[in-house]
Amino acid sequence: MAKQWGGRFEGKTDSLVEKLGESVSFDARLAKWDIRASIAHARMLGAQGIISKADSKKIITGLGAIAKDIEVGKFVFDPALEDVHTNIETALVKRIGDAGKRLHTARSRNDQIATDVRLWARDQIDAIDHQLAHLQDAFVRIAESHVETILPGCTHLQHAQPVSLAHHMLAYFEMFHRDRIRFIELRTRVNILPLGSAALAGTPHAIDRFTVAEELGFDAVCGNSMDAVSDRDYLIEFCANAAITMMHLSRLCEELILWSTPAYGFIEIGDAYTTGSSIMPQKKNPDVAELVRGKTGRVYGDLAALLTLMKGLPLTYNRDMQEDKEPVFDASDTVQLCIRVVTAMLPSIRFNIETMREATREGFLEATDIADYLAEKGVPFREAHGIVGRIVLHCTKTGKRLPELTLDEFKKFSPRVERDVYRCLDPQNILRRRDHVGGTAPRQVKAAIKRARQILKTLG
Ligand code: ARG
Repeated sequence: MAKQWGGRFEGKTDSLVEKLGESVSFDARLAKWDIRASIAHARMLGAQGIISKADSKKIITGLGAIAKDIEVGKFVFDPALEDVHTNIETALVKRIGDAGKRLHTARSRNDQIATDVRLWARDQIDAIDHQLAHLQDAFVRIAESHVETILPGCTHLQHAQPVSLAHHMLAYFEMFHRDRIRFIELRTRVNILPLGSAALAGTPHAIDRFTVAEELGFDAVCGNSMDAVSDRDYLIEFCANAAITMMHLSRLCEELILWSTPAYGFIEIGDAYTTGSSIMPQKKNPDVAELVRGKTGRVYGDLAALLTLMKGLPLTYNRDMQEDKEPVFDASDTVQLCIRVVTAMLPSIRFNIETMREATREGFLEATDIADYLAEKGVPFREAHGIVGRIVLHCTKTGKRLPELTLDEFKKFSPRVERDVYRCLDPQNILRRRDHVGGTAPRQVKAAIKRARQILKTLG
């Protein structure tokens, strides 16, 4: 097959170079967006009188037919034709003849690929936003049924203070909310049209970039042709956003893995999202959560690959940039699959409410509240902290829990302790006392659920 750019060459390309340089094995997935952009470009060329209206029409019809062929799997991509652009253009010329050879007027593959990828990224962002909304909904649903369910809240993985399961779940709602906002903001930077920049400097043809932008749904056109063909910031940002979302999923999965161990026994993950062992018949392993945790590393790798790829590139387009596709496709596929599988797994989880409550009895979770109690009675907090520290030490030596101490025992450490101290020792009360915006009190958590529902309604 003769090369599109073969004119100035006498010798043949080495077959290894073809293997090195082909990208259609991975960029064929951009075909849909490539054709959309080419149709808009051809329409503009016709409207501006750069090519005849008849040729423009033929191109548009031909591209439409090729799109259908691709959709039904009738189109064969040929690696000898390098990339998705050349494959489609070659097929167009085969189908409609000479008119097809005019499509590439006033454009280059450099502004073409930048346009395709921006269109692709915009659709992925919309899909991810939609998936994240479903994931958030899954957390709100759990929260709604567990406002009164208590479990030990931890710092350093050590029991710290009791919290409600609803409060814990809504922490994840917040994380994925920030992720959505990050993607939504990125969309505004993605949604700018590079087409019209041609190879790097613009084109002498009387193009109209604004009608192309409008047809393709872009908000604006890139302001500098050199930047337009060599900017990949939006893909780096895309991978960074995906990496952060994966990090959030991974933290969740780590908790689910811990909670499902016999040592915790807080949850049982549904059969559909666990697997067995080939040797140990009793096993029910949290493989899904582990795989999501593992795939997080892959997406971090994709981000690192892109940053490294771009760091030394002089303006403008360099062929190195073809290497951006596989990492960004991988990050996109991975994050979308992981969001969907975690969203499906969450409703399958059975929470062992009693085991969680039992766990709040260990680890002196009431200690901070006794210190707060003393502070309310006028003891400086720093002193109160020391007093309760000594009470806890006494408990560790006598093997007692804080609620098991008698009033006399308490009084030995501070005469300020009265009978009402026992109110601080009830975990439900401990929750109820944190009654401010952002606190774990059931009243506040119910309000947080309402806010979350409102956010889901507003953002869709
Ligand atoms: N396949 C190329 C890429 O992904 C398209 C742009 C090619 N441009 C060029 N001058 N070789 O980057």
